[in-house]
Amino acid sequence: MKYPRKLSAGANNTVIVLSEMEVGKLYVGDTRSEIGSEAAKMQYANTINNLVVKFSRLEYNEGIDAEMLVMERIFPIDFRAYEVEIRELWLDVFEDELYQLHQAGFVHRDLKRPSNLGGLAFDNILLTQSGLRLIDVGISALKNQVGEKIFEKYIEVEMNEMKEFRAYFLNR
Ligand SMILES: Nc1ncnc2c1ncn2[C@@H]1O[C@H](COP(=O)(O)OP(=O)(O)O)[C@@H](O)[C@H]1O
Ligand SMILES: [Mg+2]
Repeated sequence: MKYPRKLSAGANNTVIVLSEMEVGKLYVGDTRSEIGSEAAKMQYANTINNLVVKFSRLEYNEGIDAEMLVMERIFPIDFRAYEVEIRELWLDVFEDELYQLHQAGFVHRDLKRPSNLGGLAFDNILLTQSGLRLIDVGISALKNQVGEKIFEKYIEVEMNEMKEFRAYFLNR
């Protein structure tokens, strides 16, 4: 389906431009049921720190007949614009903030997309002029919902993906 002002599409959803400041993630068909939980997880992460993109509101887009999660618009830049020393500083901040989220019972779970899905491996991690940000909390999990045991498993996987991201981000 072709949407006006389409910005990008990931593994499941299309994101459209609303303004200079905001974008809308569209929920149509199968993904529709996830919007409320995605909004809640995003809002929770927003209370901890600045790493996850800022939630604005939920809206119904009459024009294209779709539920829409409205959020802060991020303008990603290519990390190869910056020398490795600067990338290392950004990575340190990123790891600290991710760890903070973990401590607060939030795990992102989608840093790296499974290799069988194609697309860019780390397309949910965006670099901006002021450092790394995370988008797409669609499959994120909260400790108080999944329980201690499952949460710890997810953390283990995330730490490994974080390591892989570090290597990717510094070695290109
Ligand atoms: N807040 C945002 N600002 C700018 N671009 C975004 C934003 N959120 C998503 N995108 C773009 O839209 C794509 C799809 O969004 P995402 O939430 O990752 O959906 P999916 O579940 O399909 O992976 C992302 O890969 C990214 O390029
Ligand atoms: Mg994505």
